[in-house]
Amino acid sequence: MPPKKSVLLLPGDGIGPEIVAEARKILTWLVDQGYASLTMPEALIGGAAYDQTGNPLPEETLTQAKQADAVLLGAVGGPKWEPLPIAVRPEKGLLGIRKALDLYCNLRPARLFSQLVEASTLKREVVEGTDIMVVRELSSGIYFGQPRGVETLANGEKRGVNTLVYTTHEIERIARAAFKIAAGRRKKLCSVDKANVLESTELWREVVIKVGREFPEVALSHMYVDNAAMQLIRNPRQFDVIVTTNMFGDILSDEASMLTGSIGMLPSASLGERYALYEPIHGSAPDIAGQGVANPLATLLSVAMMFRHSLGLPHLGERLEAAVDHVLEQGLRTPDIAQPGSQTVGTVAMGDAVLAALSDSLS
Ligand code: IPM
Ligand code: MG
Repeated sequence: MPPKKSVLLLPGDGIGPEIVAEARKILTWLVDQGYASLTMPEALIGGAAYDQTGNPLPEETLTQAKQADAVLLGAVGGPKWEPLPIAVRPEKGLLGIRKALDLYCNLRPARLFSQLVEASTLKREVVEGTDIMVVRELSSGIYFGQPRGVETLANGEKRGVNTLVYTTHEIERIARAAFKIAAGRRKKLCSVDKANVLESTELWREVVIKVGREFPEVALSHMYVDNAAMQLIRNPRQFDVIVTTNMFGDILSDEASMLTGSIGMLPSASLGERYALYEPIHGSAPDIAGQGVANPLATLLSVAMMFRHSLGLPHLGERLEAAVDHVLEQGLRTPDIAQPGSQTVGTVAMGDAVLAALSDSLS
């Protein structure tokens, strides 16, 4: 038995608590059966944290995150907190923890489960075979650049400002991470920028090309973001790994998720040199929160990434992914991926089915 590790659970808002509960159920089972040695403390983030402490990212949460081997987050945000100033909105909690843990490398795999080919809004012949890794820079760019804010001008008009900033070092490290990932896959890296208009991404392109010299085995290409958005739905199979800035990655990863049938299927890992956080890429889905219908699979697939990248238990990651595959094969679907002939189940039943499949495969 490997030494005890700790996973900090941050359920957050909306459907967050429901989907994290399914992850906790599976992790607890693995611990009880002796397949993993884990503690699972829990802390507050987002709107839930704001309501209790006035801060969407309490100091205590950050301290606990730094002590953990990995963090598993549900989702943050909701209409209830939208009227709040940006500085204390739930999203600030998520952005704050990404920044504080220096989680610059966000991996968002968009792989189509063949059973879901009909769940995509796009045609089968377009989406079939989609297997893309979006590598999104996560701790810099326009999300964090200074100056930012809204000021009132002398004439009473308002002026809103955000700044897209990247330093050489920030580009180098994300580029290097992306090249390494591409080297372990189909050896194709497409860097997405807007170098024809934005100087900061002209620098991005230059630095990516320079880092590319260390990886002659990887074929590097470049695409402007508008073209990339179009190419993703025109011919997704042309992509292996995509590396891009924080905001372009935010947008393109949502787009890529629809190739796989539902945004409810996509996991993510946010990695830095020391810390790691795992979360489904969908948000808090306030419209379905509390109804027991949210899809827990993106969260469970995030747990699989955590087993692989942070807990040194890659075989459990594989088994968990296979268990997800198995329940899809059985025809079980949450409403977001429902198809004619499939059996629609809720969050808890889906988690139970994955656990049953996992238990079968391990025993
Ligand atoms: C994501 C989300 C976040 C982001 C929001 C909730 C701040 O959309 O993780 O993609 O914009 O990064
Ligand atoms: Mg997003």
